[in-house]
Amino acid sequence: MKVFLTGATGVMGLSAINALHEAGHRVVGLARSAGKATEVANAGAQPHRGDIFDRESLLDGMHGCDAVCNLATRVPIGNAALLPGAWKANDRIRSEGSRVVIDAAREAGIGRVVQQSLSFIYGDHGDDWIDENSPIDVTRYAEPVVVAESQLENFARNEGAGVSLRFGLITGPDGNSAWLLNRARAGKATGMGSRDGWCHVIHPHDVGTAVAAALTAPSGIYNAGAEPIQRKDLVDVYAQAGGRKEGKFYGRAVMKLAGQKVELITRSQRVSSQRFSERTGWYPQYPKLTPDWFDALESRHSS
Ligand SMILES: NC(=O)c1ccc[n+]([C@@H]2O[C@H](COP(=O)([O-])OP(=O)(O)OC[C@H]3O[C@@H](n4cnc5c(N)ncnc54)[C@H](OP(=O)(O)O)[C@@H]3O)[C@@H](O)[C@H]2O)c1
Repeated sequence: MKVFLTGATGVMGLSAINALHEAGHRVVGLARSAGKATEVANAGAQPHRGDIFDRESLLDGMHGCDAVCNLATRVPIGNAALLPGAWKANDRIRSEGSRVVIDAAREAGIGRVVQQSLSFIYGDHGDDWIDENSPIDVTRYAEPVVVAESQLENFARNEGAGVSLRFGLITGPDGNSAWLLNRARAGKATGMGSRDGWCHVIHPHDVGTAVAAALTAPSGIYNAGAEPIQRKDLVDVYAQAGGRKEGKFYGRAVMKLAGQKVELITRSQRVSSQRFSERTGWYPQYPKLTPDWFDALESRHSS
């Protein structure tokens, strides 16, 4: 297939380019500047200059493509996520941007669209397993993701195949994990929420292979991630990777201050990706979080 990819220069996008090439596809990657076009070309894909909000540039890039994968995001990292208006750009990409992408895909006669989504939108289900039929809990911070999914569902009902991938928390060699690892290394808190709560994580490598597998999936919503891990263990893995014995949790005062902005990541979510595996044969190459997921970050730190 020839695949048009947004977010091609990001953590998810670069991983997807590799996996799509390995699966024998050709990739046209959206790039917002000349420098980013070089990054896309260096990754082996064909760059196409444009912006997710510029419908004409998308239409042009989608010409002759069979599928579209929408992986563009702009997630604030670390304390920046707590600043006023921090999520505005990302919210706009998810709600308005996904609409522009899907409208362009419709007009370009694209047969399949893959949309990145998040398993954070499920409610807190304690120790119960979560599958794609489990209830979601829509707050102001979950809403843009839900809007993107519903736009894709509409496409899948009327035009072509549509697959939403509910990824877990991206963990490994990426900016957010690097920030957390630095905190762990300094003996600072990285944990938010209850110690026994469950977290759904995914290695960036497996984000890419899941996107490639989504090109073969029946329309629908799928969870994609590694084995869920209890938060106390997640925090300890960060600590160990940072050369410490035990991880720490944020105190009540900080959690109260952060409020709704971090509520999504404090939910207990024991998410199963079984449906995606059964329907596509996809399995994570990184099935269980261990400190070596951060090896690439460690070598960057020590070099
Ligand atoms: N499931 C998860 O846990 C999850 C999900 C998303 C992100 N994250 C994490 O959050 C951190 C930041 O990630 P990120 O995804 O925001 O940044 P990123 O990895 O740099 O990727 C964002 C991608 O979206 C593109 N983009 C942004 N605005 C665009 C627009 N208006 N038009 C077209 N493309 C646009 C970016 O292009 P440019 O290169 O031109 O900016 C880039 O290719 C990372 O650590 C990442 O792992 C986690």
